[in-house]
Amino acid sequence: MQKLKVLITGASRGLGLAISKKLESEYSLILHASKEENLGEVGPDSHILCADFSDAEQINAFCKQLKKDHGDSLYAVINNAGLTFDKPITFQPEREIDAMINVNLKAPVMISKTAMKIFGLNKKGVIINISSVVGESGNAFQSVYAATKAGLVALSKSLAQEAAALNAGHEIRVLSVSPGFIETDMTDAIPETEKEKYLKMIPAQRFGKVEDVAEAVLFLLSDKASYINGTNININGGIL
Ligand SMILES: NC(=O)c1ccc[n+]([C@@H]2O[C@H](COP(=O)([O-])OP(=O)(O)OC[C@H]3O[C@@H](n4cnc5c(N)ncnc54)[C@H](OP(=O)(O)O)[C@@H]3O)[C@@H](O)[C@H]2O)c1
Repeated sequence: MQKLKVLITGASRGLGLAISKKLESEYSLILHASKEENLGEVGPDSHILCADFSDAEQINAFCKQLKKDHGDSLYAVINNAGLTFDKPITFQPEREIDAMINVNLKAPVMISKTAMKIFGLNKKGVIINISSVVGESGNAFQSVYAATKAGLVALSKSLAQEAAALNAGHEIRVLSVSPGFIETDMTDAIPETEKEKYLKMIPAQRFGKVEDVAEAVLFLLSDKASYINGTNININGGIL
C-alpha cells in the first residue's frame, strides 16, 4: 500500500527533525527547512521543499509548489518551523517582529489554506500546528512570539469548525500542540539562571525531550486519534 504523505516544516533540527525520524517508517515525508543544505541526508521515501518563511513571497511560492507537486496525495501537515527573538518589545526591531509573524503565523496560515483546499477534495486530512505553552501563559520578553503561538491555537480551533461546516461526512482534523520547555537549539539559548527558574515550575521535575513531542504527534496523526479534533494538546510536564 502507498504511504500517506506528510509535510513537516522546520524538519532540519530540534522538534521537526525528531518528528520526521518518528514518522519516516510509516509515512512518505515532505521535509522543509529554510535552505536545502540545512536538511542533511534524507530518507528514500522523502521529498524536499525549502523556503525562507520570513519572506512572504517565498511562503506563497512554497504553497504553490506544495499544491503542484503533492496536491493529489497530501494527508497531513505539521506546521512546526518557528523562531523567536527574546527581548523587551521596546527594543524589538520591526524586522524581527515581521520575521516572527511570517515564520510562526503567516506560513502556517497560508500552508493551512493550501492544505484545506486539498483536504476538502479528499474529505480527509490532518493539520497539527506546533504552538507553545507561552501562547496561553504569555511570557515577558517573548510578547510577539507568544502572540503568534496563541494565534495558532485559535487558527486550529477555527479551521476544525470550518472543515465541519464545509464538508459533510469528512475526516478532517485540525489541532495544535503546545510544548513546554523542550531541550533544543531554541532553548539552549536561554541563560542557566533562567533555566533553573523554569525547572522549579515543572511538576515532572525535568525538561522535555524532543521524543516526548514526536511520540504525541505520531499518535495524533493516526486513526487512533480520530476523535481528537479542534483542541490544544499540552506537552509540558505539568507546568502550571
Ligand atoms: N523547544 C522548545 O522548548 C519549544 C517549546 C514550545 C514550542 N516550540 C516550538 O516548536 C517548534 C520547533 O522548535 P525547536 O525548538 O525545534 O526550534 P529549533 O531547534 O530552533 O528549529 C527551528 C526550525 O524552524 C526552522 N526555521 C527557523 N527560521 C525559519 C525561516 N525563516 N524559514 C523557514 N524555516 C525556519 C529551522 O530551519 P533552518 O534549520 O533552516 O533554520 C528549524 O528547522 C517551533 O515552532 C517552536 O516555537 C518549541
